Amino acid sequence: MQRRPALALLAALALAPLSGSAFAQAYPNRPITMVVPFAAGGPTDLMARIIGEGMSKQLGQQIIIDNTTGAAGTIGVGKVVRAAPDGYTISIGHLGTHVANGTIYQNLNYNLLTDLEPVTLLPSNPLLVVTSNPVPAKTLKEVVEYLKANPDKVSGGTAGMGSGSHLGALAFFAATGAKYQLVPYRGTGPAVQDLIANQIQIMVDQSSNSLPHVRAGKIRAYAVTAKARSAAMPDIPTAAEAGYPMEVAIWHGLWVPKGTPPDIIAKLNAAVVATLQDPDVRRRLEDLGQDIPTPEQMTPAAFGAYHRAEYAKWKKILEDANVKVE
Ligand code: MLT
Repeated sequence: MQRRPALALLAALALAPLSGSAFAQAYPNRPITMVVPFAAGGPTDLMARIIGEGMSKQLGQQIIIDNTTGAAGTIGVGKVVRAAPDGYTISIGHLGTHVANGTIYQNLNYNLLTDLEPVTLLPSNPLLVVTSNPVPAKTLKEVVEYLKANPDKVSGGTAGMGSGSHLGALAFFAATGAKYQLVPYRGTGPAVQDLIANQIQIMVDQSSNSLPHVRAGKIRAYAVTAKARSAAMPDIPTAAEAGYPMEVAIWHGLWVPKGTPPDIIAKLNAAVVATLQDPDVRRRLEDLGQDIPTPEQMTPAAFGAYHRAEYAKWKKILEDANVKVE
């Protein structure tokens, strides 16, 4: 081979970025950012910090939590869609941010099914119907009667149209025929503080966010939106037992930008699977009423299929209910 072309080849090789597998082998060699699309202190932030801590141990790099909030999570998710597909920016989200929002927000400038790669399914949270303590009710039936007797007087917190607490409110309205004014927050972390202070009176909120305050007697719970009672809160009846069947669970997940090498997705996935096998991590999540998926449910392929199926299911529900933001 002529010397000059050989040199050119070597030069090209030297300049060429590390190939997929070589790149993945070196990954991660600096901190990874996990974008949380809701305010600090809420259920998605809590999930990010618990999972992030474990991933950091597994991957040997810091996981930086970046709370980029607003518009029911659409802003934080968009930030990851636009990020480099190099494994250093991860999107944490849930049924609201990565499913419902795709149907509700008519002008979303990204596609939740094709602009992000699924990494893994995370635990899911049943919802609790909770009120501030001054609300004169001891049962869910009495809460519904109170709302019907005070139309337009009662306000309830959500994290915006399409958020988990909004989907919970929609399920509550459909199951009870009662309504309350929706007050949007940047997350249910700040919203539950206003509930404790009786600035708002009701929420249908993820158990991991409300249960600690219920246990502390700061707010009251009336029902859990699950098929069966939860071992973490055996005294709280299911919504069906309380007279208004409704089943909604807010599952969380991790995604990365489209084009992220499969080897890197596999490393991230393995780090989360290992984290959720840790007995202390499991105890902490289950104590907050969360259901932990199996490793089989957590593979990128299985999660991708589940995401697409949930997307189609909720697209029909939300279009039939004509829930949309122009
Ligand atoms: C949060 O972390 O604030 C929640 O996930 C918001 C919600 O979807 O209700």
